[in-house]
Amino acid sequence: MWNLFYIFVFIITSGSGAFEDNRPYKQPNDPSTRFQSPPPFNESYQFIVLTGGKVYGLPTNSNSETEYTCTPERKDVVIASGKILSIMDPSKTTAFIDSIRDSKLTILPISVQDHIVIPGLVDVHVHAIGGGGEQGPYSRTPESRLSQLINGGLTTIVGILGTDGVTRSLSSLLQKMKSLQHDGLTTWMWTGSYRIPIVTLTGSLQQDVLLIDKIIGAGELALSDHRSSWPSKDELKQLLSDVRVAGMLSGKAGVIHFHMGSAPTKIDLLWQILNETTIPIQHMYLTHMSSRGDALIEEAKKWIQVGGMCDFTADADVLNETATVETLNKFRAEKLPLKQISVSSDAYGSFPEYDSSGRLVSYSMGLPDLTLKTIQNLVLKYSWPIAEAIQFSTSNPATYLNLKGKGFLGEGYDADVLVLNETDLTPLYVIGRGQILKTPTWVKHDMFEQFSG
Ligand SMILES: *[C@@H]1O[C@H](CO)[C@@H](O)[C@H](O)[C@H]1NC(C)=O
Ligand SMILES: *[C@@H]1O[C@H](CO)[C@@H](O)[C@H](O)[C@H]1NC(C)=O
Ligand SMILES: *[C@@H]1O[C@H](CO)[C@@H](O)[C@H](O)[C@H]1NC(C)=O
Ligand SMILES: *[C@@H]1O[C@H](CO)[C@@H](O)[C@H](O)[C@H]1NC(C)=O
Ligand SMILES: [Zn+2]
Repeated sequence: MWNLFYIFVFIITSGSGAFEDNRPYKQPNDPSTRFQSPPPFNESYQFIVLTGGKVYGLPTNSNSETEYTCTPERKDVVIASGKILSIMDPSKTTAFIDSIRDSKLTILPISVQDHIVIPGLVDVHVHAIGGGGEQGPYSRTPESRLSQLINGGLTTIVGILGTDGVTRSLSSLLQKMKSLQHDGLTTWMWTGSYRIPIVTLTGSLQQDVLLIDKIIGAGELALSDHRSSWPSKDELKQLLSDVRVAGMLSGKAGVIHFHMGSAPTKIDLLWQILNETTIPIQHMYLTHMSSRGDALIEEAKKWIQVGGMCDFTADADVLNETATVETLNKFRAEKLPLKQISVSSDAYGSFPEYDSSGRLVSYSMGLPDLTLKTIQNLVLKYSWPIAEAIQFSTSNPATYLNLKGKGFLGEGYDADVLVLNETDLTPLYVIGRGQILKTPTWVKHDMFEQFSG
C-alpha cells in the first residue's frame, strides 16, 4: 500500500523557501484564498513540474491552424508564474530540476506516472448564480459551488443568466464570476437573458461587450422555445450587427449564444438572416442542439457543414440521457466537422421536462461534472481516442470564442491543467493558472510527511 503511493507520487519537497517576497504564485497558504491543502501543496513554489504523464492537447501549427496532435506525447509539463513555461522532454527534466534547486528557487516535482494530462476544461454555459424557477420560487436552483466546479475539471467557465432575468441580475453574476476568478478559475460571462429587449449591465449590448472585460457576447437568448420572447427577424439582425461590431472594437469573439427550444420554427430565422444579410455565421452560437430531437439535430448537421458553431448540452445522469453522446457518435461516423461543436454542462440550470401539452413532468438540475462525464463516456464506453473526445470542452470552444491562453497545453498558455486517472478518467489534480486547486483524495498530510524527501 505505502509502496504504491510511493510509486505514484514521489514528491520531493524543496528546501525552506528563502525567497518569500519574490514568489509569483498565490499559493494555497495565502490567507486570502480558501484552500487548505495538505503538505506539500500548502507551500509556495516558483516552479511546478508534472512528470511522467501522457500529455494531450499540444497545439500544432499544421495548415497555420491550431489543432490537436492525435497521439499523446510523453512530456513533462513545467509551470511557472501561472503559465506553461515548457513542455519538456523527460530526458532533460532531472537536469532542469537540479539547476532550479542550485539557483535556490523552489520547485515541486509531481510524478503523474502514466496518467492523462489534458488542458483544463472550458465550459461555456454555467448558471453560476443558479437558474430555473419554472416551478415557482421554490424551484430556483442554487448558486454554483467552487468545489463542484473544480471536481468537474473545469478551469474556465462562462457564466450565464437564463430564464429569469428579473429576480436574477447581471451585476450579481458579474460579482460571482469575479469571485470564482479570485479562487483560481478563469471566468467570462454572457450579458442578457432569454428575452429581448435584452437585460444589460450598462444600458446596451454594445457597451456591455466593449466596456466590461468579462462579457464576451449575449446569451442565452431563447429561440423557438415556449419561454422565448419570440424576437422578430429584424430585432435579431440588429442584435447580431451590434454584437459583431462590439466584438470587433473590443477584440472579442462578439457572439450571441442562442438557447434553442423544440418549436417547429427551429433555426429558420437564422437561416433567413444569413440569406438576407452579410452577417457572418460565426456570430451565432447555438446551444441545446442535440437534446431537442432529430429535427434540430439535422439542423445542427447543416449548420456545422456551412461553418457554424453548435453547442451540445452534456447528457444528464439523473435523466439517463444519451442524446449528446449518440449525436457525437453519429456525427463522427459521418465525418462531419467536429471542430464546430462544443459540449457544455448547463450546470445549475434547471432541466424541466414538459409533456406535449406543456405540462411539467419532471424537474432536475445540471451539474458541472457533466462535461467531464461526456469525455469519460466517449472514451470508456465508445472507445474514442482521448485527443478527439476532449476537443469539445477544450480547443473547440477556446478557439471559437477567442479565449486567449486557453484550450491547449502549449508553452505560453495558461497553466490550466487536468490530470486524469488513466483507468477511469477521474480527476487527480486540477491546476488553474498555476494554482493547485485539487489534489488526489488519497493525498493526506501524514502520507507526505512519510514520503517527502
Ligand atoms: C504546511 O504544512 C506543514 C505540516 O503541517 C507545516 O509544517 C508547514 O509550516 C505548512 N506550511 C505553510 C506555508 O503553512
Ligand atoms: C436562401 O437562399 C437560397 C438561394 O437563393 C434559397 O434557395 C433558400 O431557400 C433560401 N433559404 C431561406 C431559409 O430563405
Ligand atoms: C435511470 O436509470 C436507473 C437505472 O437504470 C433507474 O433506476 C432510474 O429510474 C432511471 N431514471 C430515469 C429518470 O429514468
Ligand atoms: C485509478 O482508478 C482505478 C480504478 O478506479 C483505481 O483502482 C486506482 O486506484 C486509481 N488510481 C489512482 C492513482 O487514484
Ligand atoms: Zn438554455
